[in-house]
Amino acid sequence: MIEFAWANRLANPLAAALLEGLRHKPRAVPPKFFYDARGSALFDRICDLPEYYPTRTEIGLLQRHAREMAECIGPAADLVEFGAGSQRKIRLLLAALQRPVRYVPVDISAEHLRDHARALAADHPALTVQALVADFSADMVMPPLPAQAQRRVGFFPGSSIGNFTPTEALQFLRRSAGWLRGGGLLIGVDLVKDPALLHRAYNDAVGITAEFNKNLLVRANSELGADFDVGAFHHHAFYDPRGQRIEMHLVSARRQSVSIYGERFLFDEGESLHTENSCKYTVDGFQRLARDAGFEPQAVWCDDAKLFSVHWLAAPAC
Ligand code: AVI
Repeated sequence: MIEFAWANRLANPLAAALLEGLRHKPRAVPPKFFYDARGSALFDRICDLPEYYPTRTEIGLLQRHAREMAECIGPAADLVEFGAGSQRKIRLLLAALQRPVRYVPVDISAEHLRDHARALAADHPALTVQALVADFSADMVMPPLPAQAQRRVGFFPGSSIGNFTPTEALQFLRRSAGWLRGGGLLIGVDLVKDPALLHRAYNDAVGITAEFNKNLLVRANSELGADFDVGAFHHHAFYDPRGQRIEMHLVSARRQSVSIYGERFLFDEGESLHTENSCKYTVDGFQRLARDAGFEPQAVWCDDAKLFSVHWLAAPAC
């Protein structure tokens, strides 16, 4: 077994973000830090929960409309999946696509990415699979388009776009419109809906979402030597109708202090660490955002209950 450690604490992105997030009030840390191997596995379990409707609804849309989606994408595509995770949904698309040339799954969670990319490559021997460990919320270098590929197409399922603020979402979409010039983006977007349904989806009865949320503290303890008392923080998730978003927090159950690299942070009872936003969109609102970013929205698929949407956004060549 090989173990890696960060020689310089600020070179570790988790350390830099957590120290920064704890020094400022209200305290907040970006949600991308949930995803180490354990966090990715917990997220896979969330996707199978009865309360968590997005995954099965989006899979239903991909199953029902894969052929139409494949027509939008066209033959000989170079496919880049952002936040590829367990790579379940791309399999539905691959089955409908004409001669895809390459699949580039991009994820921040290296082990999870490697294991699933290997399994996918074994099942698709004619396809080149080039896994990329990267943080796509920052600028990133795309591998050059293979000679046989006609266009580059992004796939961003799961409504992970909702984990960006609308400003970050616009920046990401602008960057992707550049990466995907002459191709397009197939993207899953969760819709505004009955707050009670949303509340259940982020407060499941068996507590997997709570464990996923607390994984940030588990990670900080094991990777940074922090001393969070994980049991003394509560999972708190609620819908904010004005911001059209679920907010997830970890709330301190008592007055306590936490040390990271010798720096102490005091939490009052009830004080929160904001860990995630999950923004919900209307179809029109999302299409407006996509247009502002330079895409041309050309098709959208929704389930009958209007829970979830999948959009095809063309990326003009210039
Ligand atoms: C990955 N992302 C789209 C999920 C969401 O619904 O915002 C993460 C998640 N957080 C709690 N449950 C699921």
